[in-house]
Amino acid sequence: MTKIAPSLLAADFSKLAEEIKDCDSLNVDWLHLDIMDGHFVPNISFGPAVVKTIDKLTDKFLDVHLMLSEPEKYFELFARAGADLITFHIEVHPDPVAPAKVLKEMGIKTGLSLNPPTDIEKVLPYLEHFDLLLVMSVNPGFGGQSFIESVIPKIEKARKYIDKHNLSTRIEIDGGIDENNAQRVIDAGVDILVIGSSFFGATDRQALTQQMQSLKR
Ligand code: DX5
Ligand code: ZN
Repeated sequence: MTKIAPSLLAADFSKLAEEIKDCDSLNVDWLHLDIMDGHFVPNISFGPAVVKTIDKLTDKFLDVHLMLSEPEKYFELFARAGADLITFHIEVHPDPVAPAKVLKEMGIKTGLSLNPPTDIEKVLPYLEHFDLLLVMSVNPGFGGQSFIESVIPKIEKARKYIDKHNLSTRIEIDGGIDENNAQRVIDAGVDILVIGSSFFGATDRQALTQQMQSLKR
């Protein structure tokens, strides 16, 4: 079974509480929250106050994706706001072991992400310290972009490494995921699909959720 994590960036913020209620009633697995600083990525989204509001509205597992140049400065704020898992990028922390330890000490699950141009070899040696590897399949900053096919071999390499070393690290994919590419990324080794525009823009969210969750390798 595959887990899905709708990205609230694509939700209608004028009725955020209803959008979250809808995710709850559809039994999605996680909520993916995209935090952007206008520096690491060319866009600004929302901060800990909004995460705290979301946390009050739902019991869902909050998967917080920090697209920030200095993520560690904000770990505590997001942890206090209700994050269950915090992901930061290898591009800002080429040696990510110390920040992962900080998160673990706060009782927060750890995620490591890499952008499409970054080699998968940069993250593999550190996966034992992480609960999640978040593979970006678009250049981060905006929802609604097209899936970049060339990330598939990276997923395959990560899957092989994780299986060979018997790690419990899950692989999540983020960017441009829809019905046309979901099975292919799962076959390559993905466990969790982030779905933004194709989830919130779907004409039948229930059918999409069931279809995506039933996909198997
Ligand atoms: C991109 C974000 C993604 C994005 C996914 O910077 O990290 O989580 O919101 O949205 P879609 O599925 O529309 O590409
Ligand atoms: Zn994201």
